[in-house]
Order: sequence, then structure tokens, then C-alpha cells
Amino acid sequence: MLYIGVDLGTSAVKLLLMEESGNIRKIVSREYPLSMPKPGWSEQDPALWADAAFSGIRELLEGEDAAQVAGIGVGGQMHGLVVLDGEDRVIRPCILWNDGRTGQETAWLNTELGESLLAARTGNIAFAGFTAPKLLWMRSNEPELFAKIRRVMLPKDYLIYLLTGVHAADCSDASGTLLFDVAHRRWSAEMLEVCGLLPEQMGAVCESSEVVGCLREQVAQELGLPKTVKVVGGAGDNAAAAVGTATVGRGRVNISVGTSGTVFFSDERFVDPGNHAIHAFCHADGGWHLMGVQLSAASCNQWWGDILGSRDFAALQAEIPADSLGSGSLFFLPYLMGERTLHNDELARGAFIGMHMDTRRGDMTRAVLEGVAFGLRDSVEIARAAGMQVTASRLCGGGARSPLWQKILANVLGLELELLETEQGPGLGGAILAAVGCGEYASVREASDSIVRVRERISPEPGLMARYDERYGVYSRLYPALKSVYPLLTP
Ligand code: XUL
Repeated sequence: MLYIGVDLGTSAVKLLLMEESGNIRKIVSREYPLSMPKPGWSEQDPALWADAAFSGIRELLEGEDAAQVAGIGVGGQMHGLVVLDGEDRVIRPCILWNDGRTGQETAWLNTELGESLLAARTGNIAFAGFTAPKLLWMRSNEPELFAKIRRVMLPKDYLIYLLTGVHAADCSDASGTLLFDVAHRRWSAEMLEVCGLLPEQMGAVCESSEVVGCLREQVAQELGLPKTVKVVGGAGDNAAAAVGTATVGRGRVNISVGTSGTVFFSDERFVDPGNHAIHAFCHADGGWHLMGVQLSAASCNQWWGDILGSRDFAALQAEIPADSLGSGSLFFLPYLMGERTLHNDELARGAFIGMHMDTRRGDMTRAVLEGVAFGLRDSVEIARAAGMQVTASRLCGGGARSPLWQKILANVLGLELELLETEQGPGLGGAILAAVGCGEYASVREASDSIVRVRERISPEPGLMARYDERYGVYSRLYPALKSVYPLLTP
């Protein structure tokens, strides 16, 4: 049988067709724009996702035997607020995970309601990109629109609704709403009340590999698929990527260097990390995970390439002197969209610090790659402080393809990095979840372990690692030094 995996991302939807063995037959990608109507805002029209995903599925099936398709699984960008009226029509553009407009609401939740109450109810504290502060923002700033809300959904759940007609919400993605009791895998009635919502306005909670429904008849016709095709609950993109890299069960780690950067620690139990700068969410394998999130990771590199007028990253990286890694006075802070882990500060901004008359483009390119790696190390340090033994990690995402960046990451993080034979993160995870839901495998873990294979390991080098340790000490002092300046920069 065949399975379709969908990765509903921020800049594109990526779709793949997987055979039951895990072999990928075809990949299709469709880009769409992001809208930034004001500084720090980030929105997207859900109709763009639907058009791109539907036409992408049709292209994926060209020349294939569509009758062989048994299931679809979707991994999607997390935290986005999709609001529907009584007729299931979208009320306003989705407010995305990297939107920073909810500073006031986030501060209110963390200080007035209080971080410890939030952590007790949901396992987490508030971050500007989470869904609950966006609802509070809408209630204060768009009261007429807020009054029309009948349903609140996450981006991939909206796509699943279009496919099946079912309003569902899987535990991994629901974890990032701050409306969900992560430890008990259910909506938090108290948090829904804080945001003026009723439980029936939320999707029915399911696990990621659970079948939520079959294709609507009209959708099946439109896509050229049998109407018996099953759609599973799917997962937040990071949990889906973890399934697609076999970061399942206890003790495995996955680092994703995509638009955002994440460090994902898989566990079989719910763990309170103590430091809530790192999220505690449900996993798509039925367990839980901790996750540190850097809002801008590979996007820092893209931004820097755009400034230099080039997307030829290999050529830009060739300007970096080989012996310059871990040395020099230049640092880059990767907070182009504010930051979650470590600082939970939507006003933080990017910075180059330590330039001098000899600073060249190559030095600045290197500082960008190192700055993203230092930001990710903040998450690894929190996990280590919480008592986790972190010595190795899988690596995925667009940024993971550069051998130089791989080397910098291994040495800054002090981790052995495992590169995989097939690196298709959330899309592969979605297809694996669908295969499990359709009974092809007994469990998510069994499926991931039999499909995912390590192709190469990058080990840290003691000398370089020691140099980066020292530089991390300096990096860690830069945000505290700039913190009081950031609010003055905001228009
Ligand atoms: C995770 C997060 C991002 C988005 C990116 O908490 O906000 O990784 O899921 O799509």
C-alpha cells in the first residue's frame, strides 16, 4: 500500500508518497507567502495551505496507482490560530507561531495568572507565539471577530478538517496551545475559560496515529483518491519530524535546523523540566517530549544570504577561512523574530557584536552559523541541568545539509550528530503515522525504527569543542547586556 505524508510548513507544503516499506517514491513541494502586515506580526491565509496541499496531492499522484493509497498523515506548523465561524468559514488570517504581537497578553498570563498556575494546568508557561495569548489578543483588539468564533483549530487540523469533515486535534500539536493539559492529554477546561472558550469549540482529542476519518466523497473525487483513504490525527511538525527521524521512546534527541530551530528530547514519561523556557509537550508516539525552540535558525542564514544578494550558501561559506572556526571577536545573536528558548522575549532582536576594521563577509557568515548553534546550545544546557544525559542527536532540516554547519553544530553542542539516509522530517513522520493508523505496523516506534537508518555520524573534536565552550560563555553574556535596550528599539 501507499501512504501520503504532508508537511504543512511556514514557507511551503511538502508532500511525499511512501511505500509501506518506508521507501519514498516521490516528493512534491508548493511554496506560499508569509504576510507580515506590521513589524513582528506573522500571518497566513489558510486558503493558501488548502490550495497548495490539494494541488500538491494531485501532482504527487500523477502516474501513480491512486487506488493503492491507504492513508494520509499530516505534520504541521504549530501554535497557529485558525478561527472558524458557525459555517466553518475562516474568520481572519491565521496568526502564526512566529508572530510577536501578544507581548501584553503573554506577560498577563505569566505574571497575573502566574507561571506556576499555568505550568500546573498545562505543563508550560506562556510564550508570545502560543495560541492562548493570541485568543486574548483577538478578544481585546478584534472583539467583533472574536464574537463570531465557533471553532478554534491548529493549521494542520484545519487541513485535516477539509479532507475529512472531522474537527480533531492530536495531543502533540494541542500541547502548544496553552489550552491543553499535557500531563493528562486532554483540554484544560480552566484555560479554555480564561480565553472565553467552551470545550465543544475545540477539536476532539486524538493520538497522532489514530484514524480520525476517511476522505469526504467530494474531496476524494477531486483528488482522484478512493474515499476509503484514512486520515490520521497527525502531529505538530516537530513531533512528526521526530517520528521521521526515529526520535521516539526514551532518551533520543533530534535537532531540526529549519525556519525555526528545535532541540527535541523524547521521553516515555511526562517530565517537568523545572526551567519552563523549554516546552513540555506530548509526543506523537504516545509519550512526551521536552523541546527548546529558537524562532529563527536556518532563516538567519537565508536572511544573511538575501542581504548579500546570494542564495548560493556553499559559495558564501567557502569565504570562511578554515582555521577561523571558534576564534575571533565577532558574535551574532539570532533573535531576528524575538526568541523563545532561552529568553522568552518577543522584543529581542538580532545583532552582530565585535566587528573591527578587518572583519570580512566570511567572518560575518561564520558568526551567523555559530550564533544559531549557540542559541540551540541554550536548549541542550537546560536539558543537561534537568539531569538528562545528552551525548548524541539526530540532525534534520534544511540547515543540516551544510557540512560546515554540521561541524560547527557538533562542536558548539558537544554532541555526536547522526545524519540519516532519508531526511524528510515531518513529511516522512506523517506518512509513518498513517501507515501505523492503517495497521501496517504495530506501533509508531516499531515503524520508525524499521524505516529510519543512520548514514553518517559527525563527532566533535576536543580542541574545537573547548574553544566553542569558551565562546559560549561570552555569547551567554550578550543577551543580558542588551536586554534593557530591546524595548527602546521597537517602533
Ligand atoms: C515549535 C514552533 C516551531 C513551529 C515551526 O514550538 O513554534 O517549530 O512548529 O513550524
